[in-house]
Amino acid sequence: MRRAHAAAVAPAWRPSSALDEWVQREARPISLRQLTFFGRTLTETRLIDSANYCRLELPTRIAHRLRDIQTLPYVVVANPHLAHVYELYLRAFERFRRFPEIRSLEDNDKYCKVLEETLKEHATVIPRLAIGVLEVRGLMKPEETDKFMNTMLRSRISRRVIAEQHLALTETFNSPWHFPSAQPVHDPNAEAVGEIFLRCNAKEIVERCGKTTHELVKRAYGNHVVIPEIQIKGHLEATFPYILSHLEYIVGELLRNSIQAVIEQRKFKNAEPPPINVLICETAQHVIIRISDQGGGIPTEVLPHLWSFSKGPRRERRLENLARVPKLLGTMQELHVPGEFAQDTHKKHAKKSKYSDSSEHHGSLSSLTSRPPDLRLGIGLPMSRVYSEYWAGSLEIHSLEGFGVDAFLQISKLGNKNERLTTRATMDA
Ligand code: COI
Repeated sequence: MRRAHAAAVAPAWRPSSALDEWVQREARPISLRQLTFFGRTLTETRLIDSANYCRLELPTRIAHRLRDIQTLPYVVVANPHLAHVYELYLRAFERFRRFPEIRSLEDNDKYCKVLEETLKEHATVIPRLAIGVLEVRGLMKPEETDKFMNTMLRSRISRRVIAEQHLALTETFNSPWHFPSAQPVHDPNAEAVGEIFLRCNAKEIVERCGKTTHELVKRAYGNHVVIPEIQIKGHLEATFPYILSHLEYIVGELLRNSIQAVIEQRKFKNAEPPPINVLICETAQHVIIRISDQGGGIPTEVLPHLWSFSKGPRRERRLENLARVPKLLGTMQELHVPGEFAQDTHKKHAKKSKYSDSSEHHGSLSSLTSRPPDLRLGIGLPMSRVYSEYWAGSLEIHSLEGFGVDAFLQISKLGNKNERLTTRATMDA
């Protein structure tokens, strides 16, 4: 067996007829449009309906993932990080499934406390999963590991969307500016409905993420570094409804990759670095953001593993880095998983999510500076694709060897597609 510590903390499988029962239920997928229509005319009855939707949906979605973990090989789930995630999920499942029907605003307040606590408790799930699957590589086929990770991450996004949307609606309902009425009241000028920002402007998002990425890169490379300019062209007015933190995660990650590639490639050259060119293209159904850099392209040995959570030369290096700083493994919050750029841009946004994956769960600007700069888990790209496909979009990377990279992010702009809970492999099946 590969890892000596693996057997130490094998999770105790508790036979649970409750789990069997919940696994029989299917998740009920939702779309951005449904979430918007439901939340924009908020009444007490609707808020309580929303709470009861979460009450049934969260344990259903967690039950499926618990079953997935149970079906992994024993040596895999014996990994301490994966075992820890299993224990967290089991605890959350028990807590959620036992919560009685919500009938009043007081019940809802109690329920929201449980949601908030659980969201915080689960803050380390992504780094734990990422390190866990790296550590068990060799014990599972890479395709199986990636399918597992994709399913776990999609499901996690989905649960957090549902939970955070309900918390945001409750906050809106309780705010002094909201006048509860029995009749639905619709504000046509509203900027956001819960976590959904109704008019995300692609250009503004690229600009904001670009600014934060500049700051991060300066901190990592030093003030002397000349950072490539970001030039934006195309349909600059394009807007669409979206969850801002999801988009900022993806765009931030792509810009950071491009900027770093250009800087790394031009380390020993004095000339001005070539710009990052961003093209925004709006069609009837989609908004496409193309990010082009001249950072030399992706090395051929890395290319086949670009979307893998567990395989490839970069992953090997990552694991070595982690092994060199064992203390950090104890303080998972410190780990830098790409996505931290979102936190600053969020601050300016009234509807910043308190629990957003793109801020506290993936590390923060301050944690980036307090850790070795190479301590990255390297899941930014596959994670960005999970985010982009979640709301029926796509992410493609085209590498022009020796020249640069074109990244194509396609966003479904009508918001009418259901969340994608299935993985690529099952979608194709
Ligand atoms: C997770 O973050 O992993 C969750 O399961 C979210 C849930 C606590 C609402």
